[in-house]
Amino acid sequence: MTIKAHHGEILHCLEDPSSGDDGAWEYLKDGILIVEDGYVSGCGSAADMWAEVRKAATDIEMIEHPNGLIIPGMIDTHTHFPQCEIIASYGTQLIEWLETYTFPVEMGFSDSQKSHRIAKFFLRELLRNGTTTALVFGTVHSQSVDAFFEEAQQFNQRMICGKVMMDRHAPDGLLDTPESGYTQSADLIKRWHGKGRLGYAVTPRFAPTSTSEQLTMAGKLVENFPGVHLHTHLSENLRECQWVKELFPSCEDYLDVYDRHGLLGRRSVFAHGIHLCEREWNRLAHSGSNLSFCPTSNLFIGSGLFDLNSADKYGVRIGLGTDIGGGDSLSLLRTINEAYKVQQLKGNHLAPMRSFYLATLGGARTLDLDSSIGNFEIGKEADFVVLDYASTPLIEMRCAGNRSIQEKLFVLEMLGDDRAVRETWVMGECQYRKAVEIKSQ
Ligand code: GUN
Ligand code: ZN
Repeated sequence: MTIKAHHGEILHCLEDPSSGDDGAWEYLKDGILIVEDGYVSGCGSAADMWAEVRKAATDIEMIEHPNGLIIPGMIDTHTHFPQCEIIASYGTQLIEWLETYTFPVEMGFSDSQKSHRIAKFFLRELLRNGTTTALVFGTVHSQSVDAFFEEAQQFNQRMICGKVMMDRHAPDGLLDTPESGYTQSADLIKRWHGKGRLGYAVTPRFAPTSTSEQLTMAGKLVENFPGVHLHTHLSENLRECQWVKELFPSCEDYLDVYDRHGLLGRRSVFAHGIHLCEREWNRLAHSGSNLSFCPTSNLFIGSGLFDLNSADKYGVRIGLGTDIGGGDSLSLLRTINEAYKVQQLKGNHLAPMRSFYLATLGGARTLDLDSSIGNFEIGKEADFVVLDYASTPLIEMRCAGNRSIQEKLFVLEMLGDDRAVRETWVMGECQYRKAVEIKSQ
């Protein structure tokens, strides 16, 4: 068996840097990451690791990564693969945006061929952007999820996806029923959940498009199939929040709608959570539920500014989401950039190591997958990305000289996007390598 030793600068988190723990992250200026059979078998200073590797009697392939930074594969905790074709659609906010752009494009995913084509496009884009794991909406059509999982198998990415459950307030071609939503989801779970690196998420779109009967069925799926995720939207837009109040008058608030149907828990991920009251923050924390902070989407469709201070104060786990096509970028570096700016507007400073954590180990914790991915602890799956300090003239200029890792990381986060991703490795195999540019004088 060949062991691969990746030599270069390495950065990963061991804890949440906001904990104040000195050992929350590890930076190796001259490091080696050892990968055996797709799993991390060592990570440390080049001097220590090289001695260790030489003891092994098997072949060792040394791979050099000069002028770059090796980081764990990034993790997108909320996005929609069928919405690739409506990214950057003009001039609407949530409800009108759904009616004008989203529902019409999702109709097309009754076609399996189209589902395969867009799924493949999306998965390749993730690799180009350094994302190795994502929690993803399909459409109401089971074939959209079959196509997504079949394509994800080709690249061996760790992916979670689910069929949308939606039995009202949408065009006929996009509706299921409480019963068909249950049986179609159950069939998909049996077909895909736990197959290789794939997982299933029970996916009611959001409270306005599911009756209480359908949400009850979603709760039954979560109960009957332990280990699946629950993935939906929560409190994104003020008009949506008012609508939920009208549709579920007996519930205390928006989160309570999901709570009464048994949808909260450690494997539940709620996208957005912008307009939450104190009771909802407390309930999210006590139920161990997770939020996905989606700054590009929240700005693009004008939904509001996420309150990271409250998430920290109440102890709610959060990850980052691109939420395309509400979001306008598949890049988690761009997402960090806008997360930083949103927090500036809220009077907070999102530190570079904290946002790096949110895109890696924090995302893994949000998805309850941190025993498998998120950093370079021994035994984890070897998903990693090589960022390029010379990927644009500006990044090169700002990273030159003797700068600290915090400074260089912040430059990559603020100025980087897909261009900053030199390579993406999945389970120890290179699945994306950027074409080399010929530099003219
Ligand atoms: N709320 C319900 N559906 C959607 C969707 O597709 N995108 C976003 N951003 N919010 C939603
Ligand atoms: Zn969304």
